[in-house]
Amino acid sequence: MHFDAIGRVPGDPILGLMEAYASDSNPRKFDLGVGVYKDSQGLTPIPQSVKLAEQRLVDRQTTKTYIGGHGNAAFGKLVNELVLGADSKLIAEQRAGVTQTPGGTGALRLSADFIAQCLPGRGIWLSNPTWPIHETIYATAGLKVSHYPYVGSDNRLDVEAMLATLKQAPKGDVVLLHACCHNPTGFDLSHDDWRRVLEVVHARELLPLIDFAYQGFGDGLEQDAWAVRLMASELPELLITSSCSKNFGLYSDRTGALIVCAKNAEKLTDIRSQLANIARNLWSTPPDHGAAVVATILGDPELKSLWADEVEAMRQRIAQLRAGLVEALQPHGLAERFAHIGVQRGMFSYTGLSPAQVKELRDHHSVYMVSSGRANVAGIDATRLDLLADAIAKVCKA
Ligand code: LMR
Repeated sequence: MHFDAIGRVPGDPILGLMEAYASDSNPRKFDLGVGVYKDSQGLTPIPQSVKLAEQRLVDRQTTKTYIGGHGNAAFGKLVNELVLGADSKLIAEQRAGVTQTPGGTGALRLSADFIAQCLPGRGIWLSNPTWPIHETIYATAGLKVSHYPYVGSDNRLDVEAMLATLKQAPKGDVVLLHACCHNPTGFDLSHDDWRRVLEVVHARELLPLIDFAYQGFGDGLEQDAWAVRLMASELPELLITSSCSKNFGLYSDRTGALIVCAKNAEKLTDIRSQLANIARNLWSTPPDHGAAVVATILGDPELKSLWADEVEAMRQRIAQLRAGLVEALQPHGLAERFAHIGVQRGMFSYTGLSPAQVKELRDHHSVYMVSSGRANVAGIDATRLDLLADAIAKVCKA
């Protein structure tokens, strides 16, 4: 038979945690697995700004015809400004263009095929560790994947090792950097670190590809764009992937963008012709709904300000949960050991817990997190911090 030789592969470990959590009947369970934001009720809410924009769309939308290969033009203009800044010189010079993609993952996938087809022979450098799908996307596209150290076995950011490795990268290679809220570790580069990365990028003539999936979850919507804008102003060429999954709560609507910055408007037009062609073979044209919602929000000052407040509320809740967890670990004598949770940014924390401790947390305390020790802090229930701290203390002392 045709299919006889096909075996089974394991399911995705991050998405698999969603199912395992859902089928656990323990009412005291904790979902610290997949990177979705949860509010104080444990729900992943649809922001009010999104609901209002959706209502407007239902009332006013007249067609569901295809949108072009680069997607919704208003979305493209507004996301460009959100990422690069409304006063960006690149935008004024028509050197930055947005291609709408199905989520941030779609943008990564598009960048992978773009590099493979238009920049043949270039390898890509990923942080060790990084989001596991970075590894498979670029390998699947046929790129040589290498790693630069980022967080060592002591669970500390190691910028010196990162820079030393990147200084050895072949000229012209691509380096994937996390703009903020590094997934999975939560450890971000300081402004000085970014300037040093920029020096190496110049020296080795590397092409940065910045994954910007968590704008607004670190230090704020504008603050989180600092490194992206530094690179955009100092380099003639740059790739940026942006996601609206988390900051607009549009997870299931698959809304994202690949932004290309080129040396001039004409070169950008060449590149965009290639991207439209590659996208046509991947998904033809992107889904409309999420991008129409984002364009409606960002194009209306009132909705935009409501949305910005909602993002800020999510950001602050995460920051409070971080501080709260460290505090709850204090009576167990573990506040110092886990002080990094308060320093890290965004949804994720590399806790430093071993795979065995993660397993024990899951098996005996119904606490679900990725086996690497990555916890989604945004999934913590603030009213049960003591219970979580208790469980962590038990596995640490076992
Ligand atoms: C995560 O890392 O948990 C998120 O980015 C969701 C995903 O697709 O893995």
